[in-house]
Amino acid sequence: MTIALGLIVSRFIHYLALSVLFGAALFPLYGMKRSPLHDYPFLPWLRPVLLVAAIATLISAFSWLAFATAGMSGSLADAMDRDTLSIVIGGTSFGQLWVVRLALAVIVTLLLLPKKQGAWRHYAVIAGSLVLLASIGASGHAGENVIHMIADSIHLLAAGLWIGALFALFVLVIVSANSNMEILRTALLRFSGIGTSVVAVLVLSGLINSWFLIGPDKLDQLFVSRYEQVLLIKLVLFGAMLLLAAANRFWLTPRLAAALDSDSAPSAPLRPLRMSILSETVLGVGVLAAVAWLGTLEPPGLA
Ligand code: HEM
Repeated sequence: MTIALGLIVSRFIHYLALSVLFGAALFPLYGMKRSPLHDYPFLPWLRPVLLVAAIATLISAFSWLAFATAGMSGSLADAMDRDTLSIVIGGTSFGQLWVVRLALAVIVTLLLLPKKQGAWRHYAVIAGSLVLLASIGASGHAGENVIHMIADSIHLLAAGLWIGALFALFVLVIVSANSNMEILRTALLRFSGIGTSVVAVLVLSGLINSWFLIGPDKLDQLFVSRYEQVLLIKLVLFGAMLLLAAANRFWLTPRLAAALDSDSAPSAPLRPLRMSILSETVLGVGVLAAVAWLGTLEPPGLA
């Protein structure tokens, strides 16, 4: 495994795990009628999913630090070398930020260990994962630029909200049987309700990122550099996600609602909905893979 590949894989797992942790933890707050925080067994699958995501966040944070250290020293052998690690942790803003993030990831994981959760623990998990996700913005290409850092953190939170919600919706659409079809309908309607604002925030914060990292003076030679080509792949995947999201909102969810209102079997509209949500989720994972690579490439605007 080369240092670059190790870093890309660690970043990818970290983005994915943290998006699921933040987005799926937040989902019941806007996606459900009753407050599930008091009926926690209401979503028996949520705590195990969040616990796995928290553990994956912790492990990938460690490997991100290890491969970043190897990248700075130029040798893979230094990835786990105590002296090199302590120089990076003590002597770089990345290292200092990462130690705080690692401690927070441990706290969030410990919060999810007990079977009986309850409201305050859940709010603490949401708050902890929000800080973990937003704080990545202080480690990347934004550097010391505060406006860029804020736009990037907002971008990360909107991305996490969308990807995490897709994971929660996918589990819901899989586990949904006749008994809780109304829960699924409410969740789909509520998510598509905030979906438009999430997309708007992603596009706006993404354009701000692009402004700083590509720059208005480089628009004439767009998609020449490897960085821009990977960004283009990301935008194509994003476009495909938008098409599926529109199909869910304006066609597949209304079909399911019509079946439920007319007491006819929901299985027919449920099948394409499952496929559509699965495809949208897979595309979202593809976007995160592109971003994991993008963050290791030199943007033309910083060259
Ligand atoms: C599903 C939609 C999207 C998701 C899930 C997503 C996710 C992300 C993530 C996780 C990052 C990494 C931020 C960091 O590590 O600092 C990022 C960075 C970025 N995104 Fe997006 N994004 C989406 C849509 C967009 C759109 C629509 C644009 C352009 C209009 C865009 C442009 C960018 C740029 C330029 C960066 C900076 C990459 C770098 O650090 O070099 N993104 N995105």
